[in-house]
Amino acid sequence: MSAASPSRRVRFVLIAAVSENGVIGANGTLPWAIPRDFERFLALTKPHHTVSGRRVFDEMTHAGLMPLSPFAENYVWTSRPLPVVGAATSSTFDSAQPPKVYPFTSVDGLLQILLNRPPAEDNDDSTFYVLGGQKVYETFLPLASLVRLTLLHQRFEGDTTFPLAPLSDASQWRVLHQSNLVGVNERDQSNVPLSFIEYVRADASAADVHWTTRHIGLTSGDGTQ
Ligand SMILES: NC(=O)c1ccc[n+]([C@@H]2O[C@H](COP(=O)([O-])OP(=O)(O)OC[C@H]3O[C@@H](n4cnc5c(N)ncnc54)[C@H](OP(=O)(O)O)[C@@H]3O)[C@@H](O)[C@H]2O)c1
Repeated sequence: MSAASPSRRVRFVLIAAVSENGVIGANGTLPWAIPRDFERFLALTKPHHTVSGRRVFDEMTHAGLMPLSPFAENYVWTSRPLPVVGAATSSTFDSAQPPKVYPFTSVDGLLQILLNRPPAEDNDDSTFYVLGGQKVYETFLPLASLVRLTLLHQRFEGDTTFPLAPLSDASQWRVLHQSNLVGVNERDQSNVPLSFIEYVRADASAADVHWTTRHIGLTSGDGTQ
C-alpha cells in the first residue's frame, strides 16, 4: 500500500439484521420482511457512505434503494467491473447527479482509497456503513468501531450468516444500548420479538463511545490488524 496521510481516520459501522441462529439471508434476499427494522435501517444509513458486497449492492439497486443518498459514496466489493447502475434504476436520481459507486477488489485497495480521499465539507466524511453480506461482515468486523445489530429472537433458515460469536466476547465488545420490541414479519404476518443492540468496542472511553475511530494504518493481507 502506498503512503497515506497518518492523520486520516476511517470509521466503519456495521449494520445487520440477524436471526438468533446467525442467519442474514436466503436465496439472495432477506428471509423476512419486517418494516420496523427496515425503516430503522434506512434512517441510520441514508446520510452515510456505504461499503457492501456486490450481491447486496445489486439486490438493493434492483429494489430501487441504492444508492441510498445522492451525496454518499458507495464502495462495492467485486472481482468484476460494475455495471452502470443507480441513475437508470432509482427514481431518486437523474443523469445530472450520477451515483457515486466505486468498485474495490481488496480491503487494502479500499483502505488506500479511503485514507487518501480528500475531506468532504460535511465533516462526516470518515464514517462508512458496512451493509454486508457474509464475507464483508466477517472481514470488516475486526475493523469496526460500532455494530448496530437487529437481533431477531427467532430461528430462520438461510444460506448466509453474520459472525455473532465475537460480539459475545467481553474483551472485544460491550453493549451500549439495547431496546426490545416486537416487529411484524410481513411474509406471514407473525410477530417477531427483536432487539436493537448497539455494540461498541470494549475499550472505548465514555467520551469516545460514539466516535470510537479505529486507526487503520498500513495493512497487508485482508486488511485486518
Ligand atoms: N440481514 C441483513 O442485515 C443482511 C445484510 C446484507 C445482506 N443480507 C443478505 O445476504 C445475502 C447476500 O450476501 P452475500 O454474502 O451472498 O453476498 P455479498 O457479500 O453482498 O456479495 C458477494 C460478492 O462480493 C464480492 N466479494 C466478496 N468477497 C470478495 C473478495 N474477497 N474478493 C473480491 N470480491 C469479493 C464478490 O462479487 P463478484 O461476484 O462481483 O466478484 C462476491 O460474489 C442476501 O441474501 C442478502 O439479502 C442480509
